[in-house]
Amino acid sequence: MDLSDIKNALSLEELETVRVKLLGKKGIISQKFKELKNLSEEERKKVAKELNELKEKALELIAQKRKELEEKLLEEKLKSERIDVTLFNPKPTGAIHPITDTMNKIVDFFTKLNFSVETGPLVEDDFHNFEALNLPKYHPARDMQDTFYFKDGSLLRTHTSPVQIRTMMKQKPPIRMISPGAVFRRDYDLTHTPMFHQVEGLVVDEKGKVSFANLKFILETFLIHMFGDVKVRFRPSFFPFTEPSAEVDISCIFCNGVGCRVCSHTGWLEVLGCGVVDPNVFKAVGYENVSGYAFGLGVERFAMLLNKINDLRSMYEGDIRLMEQFK
Ligand code: PHE
Repeated sequence: MDLSDIKNALSLEELETVRVKLLGKKGIISQKFKELKNLSEEERKKVAKELNELKEKALELIAQKRKELEEKLLEEKLKSERIDVTLFNPKPTGAIHPITDTMNKIVDFFTKLNFSVETGPLVEDDFHNFEALNLPKYHPARDMQDTFYFKDGSLLRTHTSPVQIRTMMKQKPPIRMISPGAVFRRDYDLTHTPMFHQVEGLVVDEKGKVSFANLKFILETFLIHMFGDVKVRFRPSFFPFTEPSAEVDISCIFCNGVGCRVCSHTGWLEVLGCGVVDPNVFKAVGYENVSGYAFGLGVERFAMLLNKINDLRSMYEGDIRLMEQFK
């Protein structure tokens, strides 16, 4: 009986064929066991012993060979899938994510108008996120924002407005700033994710120097820069930190204001919140004899409209097929 076939097997498949040929139900060794009954008792004992030894040996060789072949296979796989991350690729394969791209465009517009770019922490305290923005504890408007709280009372900022407070507290007026960054709310559907991005704007100067008219002009110019030839309308609204407050709509870029599904047949798309800074906010940061305006916008909303994306969540799935469309 020759076991060299085991040693000569070149692949796991070949080894399995050899195993079946030797030890399968109809295999050579199994066959020999069946023939034992034709032998005399003495011979049977002797041959049975030999056969058992042969079987043991075969099993051992097969196991050994299998291990060897598996290791070889793994090695080949590792070799063929190896990626040299240090290799220089002169032609990048990625694309700029639509959110980053939109954010860049927004920031670009305002920095060209001499706005500074300010940042603040993502983990905020009650004072900066609410209290100083004229949102005292138990104020019903706190319900507008589904907040993630930590056990110690700190929270994930629900908007970029706390950066208004931080900037005013560390700088003297005049202020002309924007603040781009991530914000967090307990929300998840077609148009909401628990983390999204806002850009805040704040302009403060001596009393009388900054008016709602200035705010209106800058936002109209900004929206036409972003969306092209659109109509802009200001609607009275409410924010605790601005008075008066407005929400800003653009004429629907999908139907040109005629009315369609995207604009819920109103012809208008809401894109911004804004207003004249409430005196209580200035009081909280110790500013006197100033006036100002502020605005805040959702970057994802802009990115979805500009790129005609209808499910916000697709922007966070990391699917390169989405990115390939933005090359
Ligand atoms: N912070 C507001 C929000 O998150 C937006 C806003 C900012 C409104 C500044 C007015 C002024 O919805």
